[in-house]
Amino acid sequence: MSFNHETSPRSAPRRAAANKKLLLLFCGLCACALLLLGLGNSPAAAAAPRQEASPTLGPLSLDDSYCLSCHGQPGSTMKLEDGSTLDLFVDPNEYSHSIHGEKGYACVQCHRQIGEYPHAPFTAKDRRDAALQLYPACYFCHSGEYEATQDSVHARAFDAGNKEGAVCTDCHTAHAVRPINDPATGKIRPDAHLWIPETCAQCHNAIYQKYRNTVHGEALINGNPDVPTCIDCHGVHNISDPTTNQFRLNSPDICTSCHTDPKRMDKYGISTDVLTTYVSDFHGTTVTLFEKQAPDAQTNKPVCYDCHGVHDILRVDDPQKGLHVRENLLKRCQVCHPDATADFPDSWLSHYIPSPDKYPMVYYVNLFYYFFLIPVVLGGMGVLVVMDFGRSMINRFRKNPGGSSEEASHV
Ligand code: HEC
Ligand code: HEC
Ligand code: HEC
Ligand code: HEC
Ligand code: HEC
Ligand code: HEC
Ligand code: HEC
Ligand code: HEC
Ligand code: HEC
Repeated sequence: MSFNHETSPRSAPRRAAANKKLLLLFCGLCACALLLLGLGNSPAAAAAPRQEASPTLGPLSLDDSYCLSCHGQPGSTMKLEDGSTLDLFVDPNEYSHSIHGEKGYACVQCHRQIGEYPHAPFTAKDRRDAALQLYPACYFCHSGEYEATQDSVHARAFDAGNKEGAVCTDCHTAHAVRPINDPATGKIRPDAHLWIPETCAQCHNAIYQKYRNTVHGEALINGNPDVPTCIDCHGVHNISDPTTNQFRLNSPDICTSCHTDPKRMDKYGISTDVLTTYVSDFHGTTVTLFEKQAPDAQTNKPVCYDCHGVHDILRVDDPQKGLHVRENLLKRCQVCHPDATADFPDSWLSHYIPSPDKYPMVYYVNLFYYFFLIPVVLGGMGVLVVMDFGRSMINRFRKNPGGSSEEASHV
């Protein structure tokens, strides 16, 4: 027994080391040959993984076929502390069609704590706990996305003790991750463009059901990529709290990133003046001022969504619920102007730039103001100031011809 223990473990590594040297030499030669081939054939290099995602290699000694010899068989499970079971089956076909499988990544490049069977002991309270223990593996190669999530609303949910805050695998899966521009899980899914709102809907279904019926959601369902999904308004990995003053004050920027872009709006015949008219009205002026000077300030003035809604934005000419229907608009005003009566909305120019057709009174009053009243008042003031100044110089000169002002004061 003891003899065996002293000899074999020592000689085995030595033999292995000799083998390793030969192997390394062989690999080196192969690599040189590949490099030379590669130089003449650079497009092949483009297929290599992106630099930031390039892995620090794990223990590649264990081949996927080894892991799949057990985990590729359906039916094996493991008991967790709460009595529930964790399904240990990993579909080999699904994994080989995932982006990581396609790029040739091995199981052990994520599962770095796993060696040969028997594995190191693993305990988890329940299935959520198991997922939360294993998902940080994504950090090895996607540290940027990982760090971005650390300040998000979902990370804060964890801090507050809510374990359902989304982690990488909730949105991307663990073994069936697809490239983001081809999210259908390996199969052709006709509604693949819905993957983003449907991903959020796993946990925010009530909001998704509302969003589906908005002007934006309906367009998305019909395959229109010009409209916002959840992440255009909220961000992806660094989703911030949408209930803060700062988010509210900045929110017009979200809408106007699309709604002032003629390339996006012209095909729908939607006005791109919505921001200029908003900013120039008494409500928007304050909001934009706050945004610049005091981004945390609370404002009681309306932002775009106070009138248009948030997850229920409709076409303004929607026959039942659109803002063209006076009662609908009035209801929005009354949230802040509780005494507003039916003709109250007329006190507001809406998004119109006054013109001879729309709000002609305001238009002509403005013209009068800018081209008559202002020049006359300012001009008149200017003339008065010049005359006054001239008068006082003349007076001073007459009182004290040739003397300085100091001398004058001593007199
Ligand atoms: C001989 C069969 C067998 C092989 C081979 C095997 N596993 Fe397991 N694996 C299991 C069993 C059984 C469990 C249940 C827990 C236990 O018994 O340790 C498990 C559990 C796991 C778990 C759950 C969490 C944990 O840490 O236990 C992961 C992840 C896992 N295996 C990954 C792998 C990977 C990766 C490989 C390849 C390197 C692999 N397994 C090879 C049988 C195997
Ligand atoms: C891209 C990283 C990654 C790769 C590659 C990967 N896994 Fe996993 N694996 C995970 C994560 C993360 C979990 C936690 C699962 C969850 O959140 O549902 C997990 C869970 C598991 C589990 C526990 C059961 C379960 O599904 O939760 C087993 C078993 C397992 N993996 C085996 C494998 C095998 C075998 C391979 C190779 C064919 C592999 N994994 C490749 C990241 C990976
Ligand atoms: C709440 C859902 C959600 C969570 C949680 C999440 N992602 Fe994403 N992720 C997405 C969506 C949606 C996209 C597509 C973004 C786009 O189209 O611009 C994406 C894109 C990506 C991309 C492509 C490059 C990029 O940054 O756009 C990578 C890589 C990625 N995620 C990795 C991760 C990792 C790693 C984690 C965990 C630290 C994670 N994601 C957590 C939803 C999520
Ligand atoms: C060992 C390194 C490694 C690990 C660990 C890893 N990834 Fe990746 N991942 C990559 C590489 C390489 C790519 C391909 C990048 C490319 O093609 O631009 C990729 C691509 C992706 C993409 C698609 C990005 C795109 O632009 O289309 C997503 C999403 C993603 N990974 C999510 C995850 C998640 C979630 C985890 C953890 C469960 C994970 N990755 C763990 C290396 C890794
Ligand atoms: C795995 C479940 C899950 C998924 C998937 C998920 N979330 Fe969440 N989300 C939560 C939980 C839990 C909270 C914190 C509790 C709450 O406020 O509802 C939260 C909070 C939020 C909040 C802040 C709510 C508030 O009142 O402050 C926003 C915004 C949000 N999520 C957006 C998204 C978006 C966008 C997606 C899709 C890209 C998404 N979530 C996917 C679970 C999830
Ligand atoms: C057009 C922009 C926009 C889109 C698209 C959008 N949101 Fe929001 N979301 C907002 C704004 C603005 C708020 C803040 C509303 C408030 O404070 O009253 C908000 C608030 C939230 C909140 C927290 C408050 C609440 O109502 O519970 C969650 C969670 C949320 N959104 C999730 C989602 C999800 C999931 C989707 C996709 C189905 C989505 N949002 C699509 C703009 C948007
Ligand atoms: C005080 C309420 C109010 C605010 C604040 C407001 N809107 Fe409007 N919006 C309206 C009304 C009312 C209409 C319908 C005008 C009409 O056609 O008579 C409208 C029309 C629109 C239209 C349709 C224009 C068209 O050509 O059909 C868009 C787009 C729009 N608003 C976006 C915005 C954006 C973006 C913001 C924030 C920068 C905003 N709105 C702020 C009340 C408001
Ligand atoms: C990603 C770009 C994008 C963002 C962000 C966006 N929208 Fe839109 N919006 C569109 C497009 C495109 C349409 C036209 C859709 C159609 O008619 O099929 C539209 C339509 C509308 C309409 C209907 C106009 C009409 O015809 O009556 C209103 C109102 C509107 N958006 C308000 C908003 C508000 C308020 C926000 C911010 C909370 C916002 N949008 C954010 C792209 C965007
Ligand atoms: C989110 C709250 C909010 C909403 C919604 C809102 N307003 Fe206001 N509005 C204000 C505040 C605050 C003031 C400034 C009051 C002051 O300083 O005396 C104001 C001022 C005004 C004024 C200037 C005269 C006055 O009473 O001081 C008019 C006109 C006005 N709003 C019209 C409207 C119309 C029309 C609507 C609906 C389309 C509307 N508002 C919706 C908050 C709101």
